[in-house]
Amino acid sequence: MYQKPGTVKVANLHKKFVAKGKEVPVLEDINLSVSPGEFVSVIGQSGCGKTTFLRLLASLETDYSGEILVDGKKINGPSLNRGVVFQDHRLLPWLTVEKNIGLGLKKLNGKDKKKIIQEHIDLVGLNGFENAHPSQLSGGMSQRAAIARALVNRPEILLLDEPLGALDALTRMYMHKEIERIWKAEAITMIMVTHDVEEAIYLSDKIVIMSSRPGTIRKIVPVQLPRPRDRASYDFQKLKDEVLAEFHLDADKLFSYAI
Ligand SMILES: Nc1ncnc2c1ncn2[C@@H]1O[C@H](COP(=O)(O)OP(=O)(O)O)[C@@H](O)[C@H]1O
Ligand SMILES: [Mg+2]
Repeated sequence: MYQKPGTVKVANLHKKFVAKGKEVPVLEDINLSVSPGEFVSVIGQSGCGKTTFLRLLASLETDYSGEILVDGKKINGPSLNRGVVFQDHRLLPWLTVEKNIGLGLKKLNGKDKKKIIQEHIDLVGLNGFENAHPSQLSGGMSQRAAIARALVNRPEILLLDEPLGALDALTRMYMHKEIERIWKAEAITMIMVTHDVEEAIYLSDKIVIMSSRPGTIRKIVPVQLPRPRDRASYDFQKLKDEVLAEFHLDADKLFSYAI
């Protein structure tokens, strides 16, 4: 069946790791449908399996049971149609911004390559920093470069693992606007892992709340607030309380393990 580019369907996904000779279930019965162009956040306590889930979606991890379909087809290995942004920018320190962004673009010749790289430098607002090295960039600028590098192959899906986790609060708020702008400009599917409830509500069409030990989906919460979203609005705060309440239930569960 034809699926519009950017569709993700996860069915009965289970993932185990082997630790000290014992199998440890990390993800259990994950079911999720993501529509083309949707912005989905995955939130949950540290250690609940968010990164593992994203790595499975990116095919950086390939051992699992269940189904992960992208555009109706079972994924089998990393692909240029799924870009990834990590919490640490992973730029190569000895290369300029321009060269870092161009690194993944192997297919094109010189002129086209330069044009596409420049388009993406413009897209993430790094004009003027083409020849800067990563050490000359702020945290926010480095993540912009990492986003440009992930988008330069025009993926249908961008996977982001706590991309703003290392940034200060003000820069994060600014980057929320920027990520929303880039998401709209590219019109692609984005799936972002975060543990920041406000960030998830600001950006997402729906929020996947995970429980820990093993990681399961506790609840999927649609966010229907008009964009751009107003953090101070009653509806925003109400939703934030609701999502946090789910978190606390999970924290209580974790605490009961500890005693
Ligand atoms: N390669 C691995 N081998 C064994 N256990 C792992 C591996 N990667 C992650 N884990 C375990 O899986 C669980 C989920 O980890 P992770 O997906 O990184 O969680 P999160 O991103 O939500 O913090 C943790 O208990 C972690 O220790
Ligand atoms: Mg993680």
